[in-house]
Amino acid sequence: MDKPKFYITTPIYYPSGNMTIGHTYTTVAADAMTRFKKMQGYDTYFLTGTDEHGQKIEKKAAEAGVSPIEYVDKIVAETKDLWKLMNIEYDDFIRTTEDRHVRIVQQIFRRFYEQGDIYKAEYEGMYCTPCESFWTSTQLVDKDGQKVCPDCGRPCQPMKEESYFFRMSKYQDWMIDYIETHPDFIQPPSRANEMINNFLKPGLQDLCVSRTSVKWGVPVDFDPKHTVYVWIDALSNYITALGYGTDHDELYRKYWPADVHLVGKEIVRFHTIYWPIMLHALDLPLPKQVFGHGWLLFGADRMSKSKGNVVYPQPIVARYGVDALRYYLMREMPFGADGNYTNESFLTRTNADLANDLGNLVSRTVAMIEKYFGGLVPQPGEYDETDRHVIDMFEALPAIVEKHMNELQFSLALGEIWKFVGELNRYIDLTQPWVLGKSEEGLPRLRTVMYVLAEGVRAVAVHIGPVMPSTPGRIFAQLGIQDESLTTWESVQHFGRLPAGTAVKKGEALFPRVDIRKELEALSAEKAPAPAPEKKPEPKPEAKKEAPEGFVTADEFFKTKLVAAKILSCEKVEGSDKLLKSTLDIGSGETRTVLSGIARWYAPEDMPGKTVVLVKNLPPRKMKGILSEGMLLCADDGNGNLKLLTVDGGDIKPGSEIG
Ligand code: MSP
Repeated sequence: MDKPKFYITTPIYYPSGNMTIGHTYTTVAADAMTRFKKMQGYDTYFLTGTDEHGQKIEKKAAEAGVSPIEYVDKIVAETKDLWKLMNIEYDDFIRTTEDRHVRIVQQIFRRFYEQGDIYKAEYEGMYCTPCESFWTSTQLVDKDGQKVCPDCGRPCQPMKEESYFFRMSKYQDWMIDYIETHPDFIQPPSRANEMINNFLKPGLQDLCVSRTSVKWGVPVDFDPKHTVYVWIDALSNYITALGYGTDHDELYRKYWPADVHLVGKEIVRFHTIYWPIMLHALDLPLPKQVFGHGWLLFGADRMSKSKGNVVYPQPIVARYGVDALRYYLMREMPFGADGNYTNESFLTRTNADLANDLGNLVSRTVAMIEKYFGGLVPQPGEYDETDRHVIDMFEALPAIVEKHMNELQFSLALGEIWKFVGELNRYIDLTQPWVLGKSEEGLPRLRTVMYVLAEGVRAVAVHIGPVMPSTPGRIFAQLGIQDESLTTWESVQHFGRLPAGTAVKKGEALFPRVDIRKELEALSAEKAPAPAPEKKPEPKPEAKKEAPEGFVTADEFFKTKLVAAKILSCEKVEGSDKLLKSTLDIGSGETRTVLSGIARWYAPEDMPGKTVVLVKNLPPRKMKGILSEGMLLCADDGNGNLKLLTVDGGDIKPGSEIG
């Protein structure tokens, strides 16, 4: 029987500058999804590429003193290097300047014209001559009573340009009906409502699809003073890459329609209105789904080259490895929602989830098998209730992960895998192998415990593979697994495939713990190299002062960093009647999340605005799956009732030191 097919795409990116962590986000998601489907036995096809035409690239190339193609060639080469670094395994990389694309775009454009979907008319708007850009009156900005260009701030003139237009309006009702009758087509569903209410119901405008002022584009072959305007050119890539319209359209016939187009939310409109209408006009089936994911923000803004607040993946990968970044991108924010990228949240997560939870689990398991059983996975005995609990979780995991992955909910899938990692760590604490290992009587039980752990670690390694492709091999090496049939999706459906007698071998720590403070400095120095620090004089060695019993020295006391922190927001923690989760402003633009056991005495809505005392340098700790980064000080009234310590006086700024 033929394998089921899965075709996934990313947007084709503008090579106007180097790709950022934002472009990496979409591409990693597509890669993780492809690897997951491949692991499940699908015949997958993953397409990415670059959208190389248009005025912006034309201008950038001119500024750099090179031809547009020279300009994009260099960025495309760097983009491909980045995807290699990120372990992205695409099947094809389409460039809109390639002949195979250009020819078919011309053919599509001509067909639209011949069948009456495209007509020629005058495009009227305000024109900025230096920028060579048309603007509608709503896009212009008011400056000293004049309407000026939103890009350069210079005055605009009314102007007419001859253009071809696509008769989008003709398809408006069909489009509304399609979206309404295909609830899975646009994901998340809120974006479907936005398309219908904001763009379709108010009336779909015909779309300008050619330019005479932009030379760097696909020429309209029957009217060569026109070039095809970007969206018709760009969107067609999803079928031109498959050979649509040529004599070699095997890939097109095999993979189209796409299973999912992954796109950022700002281009959902083009993919869920214009692209389906184009396909419908060509009499072709529509993609099964368009998923509009959220933005990776940097502070309050979307990262963008023009705002200069860009994060690039290379320095992060160089310091912490590709899988740490891939894991963070897929874990930190739900796919669909916006999220903030900060170096601090990346480092905190790497330490908590990868170094502590996963790394320790693997190293403890392997070290104990070496210590107690000469490095050979022991034969398990009877399973008791504690073991059964872990085994049940093992066997339930694949279906849960599959469900979340099929909905592109990477963070939920990883959350479930990490619940299992947590359970295995808890299993070690409960069964206390170090106590069992002390006596002969403990050994039979210890054999079972170590087997359950080794088998559990194997399952974790298989499950994380799609998101973290270079980590499973390192875990399998430590577990001594060479037989590939023990690394498959099928092999983790049932517990117990790992043969007793497998020889484990301790390796390097998977994810070494990092010193967050030092790493933050190092990462910010990546952007602006800091001047060489002045060498501080070595402090004079002093005799170590010790406090009398029951006292601490001032030095000891001041090791505890207390700061004033302002509560920005607060909510109850799901599944707990004790805990409140507060988000705190701790100065210098930094925020922290802290959980406190005070829900009995404070309602969440009473908290925002208070300036409280935070113990800032406690190690982060996870409660109810949430990382708490410090502690709020409280006083006890003697009957177990708690009151928060607050700071008197409104002019104490968040971050002020206390002591
Ligand atoms: N060329 C068009 C797309 C044509 S698709 C037929 C384009 N290119 S782009 O270079 O601007 O890429 C935008 C896409 O890059 C977003 O839709 C998203 O997939 C990804 N992202 C770039 N920066 C991003 C963030 N800061 N956050 C999330 N995704 C981001 O638009």
